[in-house]
Amino acid sequence: MERLLKSLVSPVADAAAETRIRAIRGVYDIISDVYPISSRLFHRLAHATAIEMSKMEDGMRILEVATGSGELYRQLTLNNPQGLTFGVDLSPRMAQKTQKGIRSIAKQARSYCHAADVRNLPFRSSSFDRVFLCALLELLPDGAMADALCEVRRVLKPDGRMVLVCISQRDPRFNTLYAAGAALVPSFLGRLVERSVYELVPKLGFEILAQRNVRQLWYPSTVIVLRKV
Ligand SMILES: C[S@@+](CC[C@H](N)C(=O)[O-])C[C@H]1O[C@@H](n2cnc3c(N)ncnc32)[C@H](O)[C@@H]1O
Repeated sequence: MERLLKSLVSPVADAAAETRIRAIRGVYDIISDVYPISSRLFHRLAHATAIEMSKMEDGMRILEVATGSGELYRQLTLNNPQGLTFGVDLSPRMAQKTQKGIRSIAKQARSYCHAADVRNLPFRSSSFDRVFLCALLELLPDGAMADALCEVRRVLKPDGRMVLVCISQRDPRFNTLYAAGAALVPSFLGRLVERSVYELVPKLGFEILAQRNVRQLWYPSTVIVLRKV
């Protein structure tokens, strides 16, 4: 099913996309030690909102894709002591940092973070009740966004929820500034994708259940909860 949906919307992956993904891995590996500052400054409120809107319950199987240095991941694990929490990040150094962080605060937690690409998640189909993604889709090359969403859909249980945090496009001044920054450091910032997400998700087998705008230090995010249909 996912392959069929993907073939309808996604162009064939090309060499430029793979080069971009390798560059992203390199950049996030390099900045893994300082990245927590950025996550706390810009994503903390969105993380809390995502957890609240997800209606996650202790005992669930939870996955976070693109954990970065683990700020949201730690909260997911601490909210799920009876369940199983998994994380992946493209950058091996980010994944390692996240795993170390969780062991330092919850030694016995059933919580495991590894390096993996969202386009090829190392999990069985229909394994998770909730999958969280924060500030990931912005980084992916065009065709890879549909691949990523199809892969998330594959690992979600029937009726499972994807909780997506996008950088919002609702503020034109922010959009202009972001585009200027992204032109300088494309592998770090990517591009804004919120509007494309709304177009894409119904075609890929998701229903939007809820959406909320948040803002932290002028940085606008949107939290979207989607159901696998
Ligand atoms: C902007 S950071 C967001 C980190 C974290 N979600 C947060 O809220 O702070 C983006 C993260 O996505 C990861 N990433 C980029 N491309 C990826 C891919 N194809 N698969 C998995 N992770 C990816 C990067 O390594 C980086 O850690």
